[in-house]
Amino acid sequence: MDKEIKTPKVGFTLWFTGLSGAGKSTIANILEKNFRESGLKIEILDGDIVRTHLSKGLGFSKEDRDTNIRRIGYVASLLSRNGVITITAAISPYRVIRDEVRNMHDNFVEIYAKCPLEIVEKRDVKGLYKKARSGEIPQFTGISDPYEEPLNPELTVETDKEKPEDSANKILTWLKENKYINA
Ligand code: ADX
Repeated sequence: MDKEIKTPKVGFTLWFTGLSGAGKSTIANILEKNFRESGLKIEILDGDIVRTHLSKGLGFSKEDRDTNIRRIGYVASLLSRNGVITITAAISPYRVIRDEVRNMHDNFVEIYAKCPLEIVEKRDVKGLYKKARSGEIPQFTGISDPYEEPLNPELTVETDKEKPEDSANKILTWLKENKYINA
């Protein structure tokens, strides 16, 4: 990967969206390592982790998910406007709320981690899809709760076809081409 990144012109938010198990956190972690090694300020707001503090106590109703996403969006906007590269990795299933958090930002890059439900369900890394199918977990995204695909994301990575490193490289290339980071 490119080691010559120096300073971003301004902070920005990379907003991942996609089904549970689509690879959002995996790609976010690869990007984090790459940015950090280049001396850039970087922070990840991961749904699973945010829900242990900032969003502790919230569930998965539409209302709670919207609150979770608005909180993540708010913190991301504060960080990124202060020059920190901010990567979010939450399902963020609703288009309207994603657009709402987009509007809190000057520099917002929506990245769709696209993976067919059949594949994430087959992988079932956390064993949650099985529980969702049996009804043990209600309101599970993609099974018994909606996921609204982005209509016009800045970037789409197809995680059933690309390795996480390839997706990360694709994102870095796009960021360079669009002057978010130095080539
Ligand atoms: S979001 O909808 O509010 O954006 P978020 O990304 O924070 O969701 O959390 C999703 C993670 O919570 C999943 O990756 C999974 O590990 C866990 N989870 C537990 N219950 C559910 C559910 N009903 N729907 C989706 N994810 C769930």
